[in-house]
Amino acid sequence: MSSDNQVIIFDTTLRDGEQSPGCSMNLEEKLRMANILDDMGVDVIEAGFPIASKGDFEAVNEIAKSAKQATICGLSRAVEKDIQAAAEAIAPANKKRIHTFISTSPLHMKYKLKMEAEQVIEAIKNSVSFARNLVDDVEWSAEDGSRTEDDFLCHCVEIAIKSGAKTINIPDTVGYATPEEFGEKIKMLFNRVPNIDDAVISVHCHNDLGLAVANSLAGVQAGARQIECTINGIGERAGNAALEEVVMALRTRNDLMPYKTNIKTIDITNASRNLSAITGFDVQPNKAIVGANAFAHESGIHQDGMLKHTQTYEIMTPESVGLKKSSLILGKHSGSHALKSKLKEMGYNLDEKELADIFKRFKELADKKKEIFDEDIIALVDDEILRENDKIKFISLHVQAGTTGPQSADIVLLIDGEHKNVKVEGNGPVDAIFKAIKEIYPHPEAKLQIYKVHAVTGGTDAQAEVTVRLCENGRTTNGQGADADTLVASARAYINALNKMILKREKTSPNEEESKAVTP
Ligand code: KIV
Ligand code: ZN
Repeated sequence: MSSDNQVIIFDTTLRDGEQSPGCSMNLEEKLRMANILDDMGVDVIEAGFPIASKGDFEAVNEIAKSAKQATICGLSRAVEKDIQAAAEAIAPANKKRIHTFISTSPLHMKYKLKMEAEQVIEAIKNSVSFARNLVDDVEWSAEDGSRTEDDFLCHCVEIAIKSGAKTINIPDTVGYATPEEFGEKIKMLFNRVPNIDDAVISVHCHNDLGLAVANSLAGVQAGARQIECTINGIGERAGNAALEEVVMALRTRNDLMPYKTNIKTIDITNASRNLSAITGFDVQPNKAIVGANAFAHESGIHQDGMLKHTQTYEIMTPESVGLKKSSLILGKHSGSHALKSKLKEMGYNLDEKELADIFKRFKELADKKKEIFDEDIIALVDDEILRENDKIKFISLHVQAGTTGPQSADIVLLIDGEHKNVKVEGNGPVDAIFKAIKEIYPHPEAKLQIYKVHAVTGGTDAQAEVTVRLCENGRTTNGQGADADTLVASARAYINALNKMILKREKTSPNEEESKAVTP
């Protein structure tokens, strides 16, 4: 068992997380998230699956160029062309890792790979040594490891380490294991694999039974020293172990789990909010650590206890995860300098043009809303800055609504630099807006799956934040838009989802289709 008490945090938000429906991100969004992860102290960032598509390759490559501290990792199947693509994509990084995997469970070998055990062993030897010829730092994963027979798993791990793997990852790919069982599996490897001390053992747990975090911690207690996880727990199906939960569990229960990580926990809330804003994937209010209610005390008895001594009902402070009380910040008369310094204080580093755009939106908002809070500024920045390279841009909207119809939308969009305008009637104003966008930029295959509105702050003059999810031939995208006018926010959200869909279509290549069939 490993004696070192440092646990490596391997974040796969941009790979396993991005694979889940509705969580896809474009290049800029991935770069923004990678930068946040790097700054918060993530040790390894799995930036993507470079062979999957040109877009994935480019994203991993750009992240590799911009990373400061973190090791940048690219995923690959156990085939040379994947490994080669991963090596090329991560090449610019100061610290780089190739992560190669193959299934080892009887079920996966028989039905998915159609390979005999000996062929899998050969593939492990060849893939790991091929990767080791390209980079120094190679991780090998036994896909469906938790359902792999002990003897065979020990053999695979021993071969992978002999072939040069420095990290061995044991995934609970389908989220089937229980904590005791998973911990035993890791202990079994430490007891039986002769060269186990030559590698770091890692765990990668899915959340199908809600046990991903518990299983990851059991793995660490059994000797694993790397946890693979994602912000907000996003990932395939029910997701992966949530980074914020494993990190705060290790920190808060350090008495029982004396391990440390490099994560600056005060950056957790910022990372969670940014990811939600980028993907449009909201966090459930009662989600541990980052849910809106995670630090809210509603009942009288709890509030009374909190006033007497905060530790009566609080096991960690909101400040420790970077949660600040929402503060009144700016008003109608605030100038661009005040806005600039507020944005800086909130962690946004914007260039002059971005600042000018935000200031314009801020002034428009201040005309409609007396008090502007941190949350309003976050919604504006998310809405404005992430839209810069969009194909379709929102210009203006005039809507006819109310009991006496017909309800209609008169919308102006900028498409590839050209103004387009239509006026369309609909079954209510939202229907009219979405129909108008469809008329200007036809996309008959896309279906609206989710339309959701929430108020950014309290008060009837609050900004509305709208989320729209579109689904087209199995691809899903989420868009968000914010404005004091709910209908304008709706138009912005729909356009955002559509822009992401256009990117996603462009990204799809024969390689991507092929890789999807085997994506873990
Ligand atoms: O869940 C899984 O098995 C994976 C592997 C590629 C690590 O994501
Ligand atoms: Zn996974």
